[in-house]
Amino acid sequence: MPFLRKHLQSVAGYTPGEQPPPGSPVIKLNTNENPYPPSPEVFRALQTIDPEWLRRYPDPTAIAFRKTASEVLNIPPDWITVGNGSDELISLIVRAVVEPGATVVYPMPSYVLYRTVAQIQDAQPIEVAYDEAFTFPLQEILDAQGAVTFIASPNSPIGNLVSEEALETLAANLQGLLVIDEAYVDFTDTTALHLVRQHANVIILRTLSKGYSLAGLRLGFAIAHPTLIQNLNKIKDSYAVDAIAALAGAAAIRDQAHKNSNVQKVLRSRATLHQNLVELGFRVWPSEGNFLLVQPPQEISAIALQQHLKTQGILVRHFNLPGVADKLRITIGTDVQNEQLCRILKK
Ligand SMILES: Cc1ncc(COP(=O)(O)O)c(C=O)c1O
Repeated sequence: MPFLRKHLQSVAGYTPGEQPPPGSPVIKLNTNENPYPPSPEVFRALQTIDPEWLRRYPDPTAIAFRKTASEVLNIPPDWITVGNGSDELISLIVRAVVEPGATVVYPMPSYVLYRTVAQIQDAQPIEVAYDEAFTFPLQEILDAQGAVTFIASPNSPIGNLVSEEALETLAANLQGLLVIDEAYVDFTDTTALHLVRQHANVIILRTLSKGYSLAGLRLGFAIAHPTLIQNLNKIKDSYAVDAIAALAGAAAIRDQAHKNSNVQKVLRSRATLHQNLVELGFRVWPSEGNFLLVQPPQEISAIALQQHLKTQGILVRHFNLPGVADKLRITIGTDVQNEQLCRILKK
């Protein structure tokens, strides 16, 4: 297309996991949603919506949400900015920091959106491979000195955590920005949040999509030094987070007990599913997220198995990426859903 920016001709774009319409009779284990409903406080808050709030534009800074998040995380509100999912913040960061041709560095396999966003910005994605044992390639990432470095921890689709020491080393020795994507932080007991106080080049990304069961709401937030936050705010769409998302998000993040109780259920199911898949002959990697990376027994191809499961009404995710093309990522469902998965796998 002659009117498109030249470099976009070769950009494939991001392919999200399949999203069948609500109510479809499928067991959806393909996009790491939480299998349990959001806090009842979210629905209570939604009932208080005044039509006037919808007639008017929302608060561009979502201060009510940021104040609540600030209390929960014990970090001042001006260290926080919000986005239409953390996906929007990933894009915002790259647009703010990366000159055309500059480098966006991340380990591979990891979240594929980092690649897409870098390509859209006409930046140079540098994908540093995890080895076969999925050892975090710290030195190579350091050596690459990206304008931005994205580290997902816990990382998808592997499920591994990146150690605090490795993140600290990156923060202290990268000249560019270090983005620590903590989308799955609720399913583990470690966070790198403290690094934002010590290093002005660190951004932490969080989302309401996973632990808080609000993927449909589209609300994520970034935590960083206020100067960095102010600069991100310069380029952000003023009303990217709508009045309903800000209200519901605040109610959800306030109800830590509900989130924690859902997380405990997911963690118990994760352990059971891990064990059951091993008994069925799968290789299963330890996971700190709400999903498992699995390799089917040798005679079965990952793609063929994904297709077969789909015919049986179960969606799981395959990534055609280095290191995981022979594996599948399975989101932890309810015990009933996981048992159905295992029944079909056993057949
Ligand atoms: C590592 C990682 N970061 C970010 C996201 C996107 O989260 P959000 O729903 O907040 O855009 C995902 C979604 O799967 C993810 O796996």
